Amino acid sequence: MLRVRFEPRGDTLEIPGGTRLIDAVREAGLPIASSCGDDLICGKCGVRILSGKVSREKGSEREAKRRNRVPPELRLACALRVHDDLVVTADYWGERQNS
Ligand code: FES
Repeated sequence: MLRVRFEPRGDTLEIPGGTRLIDAVREAGLPIASSCGDDLICGKCGVRILSGKVSREKGSEREAKRRNRVPPELRLACALRVHDDLVVTADYWGERQNS
């Protein structure tokens, strides 16, 4: 099992290797933008990898980012499979609210 930590909340999820990152985000209960059915078209699922190894960008991901003007430092969560412990964030994941 691999561990993915989601910042800034700090929630950690254990998942089997090979899980798509976008599925891990959803399983953690965090929002993830997508309007293409996770099909590498919309470019909305960009996340920032803070630590851990991810595969190099393939042409299809690069093209989706280029078409949608996604900042180069973001990776598309629907394109990534988790093969290492990761720390990940997205600009719209806020701190946990104390109630
Ligand atoms: S969900 Fe549309 S590109 Fe990832």
